[in-house]
Amino acid sequence: MVAKHVNTLRTEDKIFAVSREAGSAVLQFGKEKVVNATVGAILDEDEKLAVLPTVIKTLRNLPDTEFAAYAPIPGTPDYLESAIQSTFRENRPEGYIKASATPGGSGAIRHTIWNYSDIGDTILTSDWFWGPYKTLAEENLRKLSAFSLFDDEKSFNLHSFEVKVSELLERQDSLVILLNSPAQNPTGYTLSDDEWGQVIETVKGAASDGSKRITLLCDIAYIDYAGRASDTRSFMSHFSGLPSNLLVIVAFSTSKSLTMYGLRTGAAVCVSSNKDVVQEFSDVFETSNRGTWSNGTRCGMKLLSEIMNNKELLLRVDEEREEFRQLLEKRAEIFIEEARGSHLDICPYKSGFFITIPAIQPEESCKLLKKENIFAVPISRGIRFAICSVPLYKMKGIAEKIKGAIS
Ligand SMILES: Cc1ncc(COP(=O)(O)O)c(C=O)c1O
Repeated sequence: MVAKHVNTLRTEDKIFAVSREAGSAVLQFGKEKVVNATVGAILDEDEKLAVLPTVIKTLRNLPDTEFAAYAPIPGTPDYLESAIQSTFRENRPEGYIKASATPGGSGAIRHTIWNYSDIGDTILTSDWFWGPYKTLAEENLRKLSAFSLFDDEKSFNLHSFEVKVSELLERQDSLVILLNSPAQNPTGYTLSDDEWGQVIETVKGAASDGSKRITLLCDIAYIDYAGRASDTRSFMSHFSGLPSNLLVIVAFSTSKSLTMYGLRTGAAVCVSSNKDVVQEFSDVFETSNRGTWSNGTRCGMKLLSEIMNNKELLLRVDEEREEFRQLLEKRAEIFIEEARGSHLDICPYKSGFFITIPAIQPEESCKLLKKENIFAVPISRGIRFAICSVPLYKMKGIAEKIKGAIS
C-alpha cells in the first residue's frame, strides 16, 4: 500500500528486541542472574530508572495550565533563552545566537537535515555513530556516509574527516555534518578542545569556497555526564567568528540532562556570524515545526526555565546529577580495569552511558553472551554495552566474558 519513496525494510528496533529478551531472562532466572546492558537510560543500583528528585518535584509543582496549554510553535521565549543558557553556560561563543524548540535532540537533528541539505545529498558522520542518524537521513530522502572516527593512536582521525569533507563537497553544494561529542554514543569518546579546533579549521577551510554551505551539527545529548559544566563546554569557544556560509547548530536535549527522556523537550541552538542567517534559521525551524509535530511540550519548557532561572534549583539539580555521573564513572572504571587485565580492546572511552567493544562478528558474539545471561546490543562493528543500566556488583567479570565471546 505504501508510496514509492517509503522504506518498507524496517525491522524491529534491535535495542528494544534484545531488551525484551533480557526481560524474559529475568522472569526465568531472576533479576540477580541477568545483566541487561541494553537500556540507554541510567538505572540506579536497584535497576530502577534514575530520576533527579529536584527535577520531578519542580515538574509536579507546575500549575495545571502548564501541562494543558499549547506552547508557541518556536517554543516559549523563556524556554528558548534557558535552552541557550543551558547549552553554553559560561562558554557562550561570539556571534548571533537563536534557539528553536524541538521534541528532544532528535527533532533538532531532523530539522537540520531537512533545512540545510538538499534532497539526495549525503550527510556526513563518524563510522561509530548512533543508529537513528541513518534513519533520520533516509527518512528525509538523504544518504549517510562516514569518516573513520579513530586513527591508529585511538585519537580523532582528522585526516579521514578532511578527506570525506572535501570528497562530498566536490559533488554537492551543501554539507551537513553530525558530530556527537562529548561522551559519544556508542563509544564514550570526547573530542579534545584541540581536536575541535582542528575540526573547525577544516570546515572553515572548506567554506573558503563561498559557493558551498556547510552546517556542523554538534549533538550534545550526553554533555552533562562528561564532567563539570565549564570544562565540558570550553570547546564551544571555537564556534566564534565563523564565516557566514558555515553554520553551527547545537542539538540540545533535556532527555539525559534532566533525566526526562519521555518529556520530549529539546532545542536546536544556532550560532552564526551573520544576523540574517540566524533569522532565517529561526524562520525555517518554525515552519518545520508547524509542518511536522506542530509544537513541543509546554511543561517541559517551563520546567527547564524554572530551573535555569533559579540559581539554588540549578545547583541542586547539578549536584544530584553529579551523583549519577560519578556512578557511571565507577561502573566504567571496573569495566576498563578488567578489560586491561583481560587484554580486551575497547573503543577509547572518556565518559558517558556506553562502552563499545570492536568485534568482527557482533551478532554471533552477542548470541554467545546471551547464553551467559549477558544482554548487550550488537552494532555494525562491535558490541555496545550500556554501563548506564548495569549496577556495580554486576560489572565484575563482564570484560573477561566479552573477551571470551569475541575471540
Ligand atoms: C547520540 C544521541 N543523540 C541524540 C539523542 C536524542 O535523544 P532525544 O531526542 O531524546 O533528545 C540520543 C538519544 O538516545 C542519542 O543517543
